[in-house]
Amino acid sequence: MTILAFETSCDETSAAVVRDGRILSNVVSSQIKLHQEYGGVVPELAAREHLKNFLPVAQAALRAAGISPAQLDAVAATQGPGLAIALLVGYKAAQAVAFALNKPFLGINHHEAHLYSPWIEMSREPSVESPGPDSSTLNPQPSTNFQPNVSLIVSGGHTLLVLVESELHHRVLGGTIDDAAGECFDKTGKLIGLAYPAGPLIDQLAEQGNPSAYDFPRPLIHDASDDFSFSGLKTSVRYFIRDHPALLDDPQKVRDLCASVQAAIVEVLVKKTIRAAKRTGVRCVTASGGVTCNRALRSELSRACRQNGLTLRLADKSLCTDNATMIGILAERKLLARVPLPPLDEEIKPGWALA
Ligand code: KG4
Ligand code: ZN
Repeated sequence: MTILAFETSCDETSAAVVRDGRILSNVVSSQIKLHQEYGGVVPELAAREHLKNFLPVAQAALRAAGISPAQLDAVAATQGPGLAIALLVGYKAAQAVAFALNKPFLGINHHEAHLYSPWIEMSREPSVESPGPDSSTLNPQPSTNFQPNVSLIVSGGHTLLVLVESELHHRVLGGTIDDAAGECFDKTGKLIGLAYPAGPLIDQLAEQGNPSAYDFPRPLIHDASDDFSFSGLKTSVRYFIRDHPALLDDPQKVRDLCASVQAAIVEVLVKKTIRAAKRTGVRCVTASGGVTCNRALRSELSRACRQNGLTLRLADKSLCTDNATMIGILAERKLLARVPLPPLDEEIKPGWALA
């Protein structure tokens, strides 16, 4: 089965070709530079960029895969959740492609796709650790040794803990009640004067900072729920900077501040993920989403999993941030499981929450 998949839920226009569980191509056109001057993603601009990039990215994915449109068996695209006008462009264009080629079409939940990205094996050599996704050539293959797991999805828009009982069967345990963890990285970075998105920069600066230099709250860390809250942490950084403005003129203190904020975010994410895994009795933890590129989160999660006898599967950095590969992989699994196909003119679902 050969599938052409699309992802346009936020600021990445991505197309991928998946065939029989192998990913033949994965093309991602990122809009980060466009949105940087506004300090965040501007939905209208994102939608216009998707419109401009959709066909070139689709053609590049087909070319890289060596596949002609006639060889496709199905088309898939992210249906939600995400920015409504960004989703609309990619989803409607993908439906039009399926209609023109007379192929089945499948809308995919973006978060459900994230759940499976940690299971995609990368056959290339691991890259040198860097705070962002790398773009070396891919030859990923889906892993066959799936285990029930607790999955952390952690990005600029979402922070979710999900119990994945078996392939295609999951239950949301908790999520953020206000800001996402990535938003906390980005917004505290903005207070420090860092460019958007600040997550990778905080990761880099934190490397030479002291994580115990400043004591920031760990919101909901002792709360019995699997929910998260990051807006109070962001506010406490705001007040801290207001009360110590000179700190921003000292590069070492800025590094210490980054390390301390990062430590607070990472500690909450790791503690609550491990606790959920132990409580539910799974033996495996997985993580995906842009913040999973964070080196402290990756190393703290591995340390905690090792200590607790849990297997850890982290999505490859190139598949942590949004990509069509994960959409194609999940679409293929669903088509093989013979899920009913929705009508071809089905609408986007911007607020489509995982159950
Ligand atoms: O998954 P993603 O590409 O897009 C969505 O938000 O859906 O995630 C982007 C988020 C941003 O908030 C960015 O700052 C954060 O992931 N991020 C990081 C790192 N790399 C990306 N946060 C901390 N450390 C990183 N190395
Ligand atoms: Zn995402």
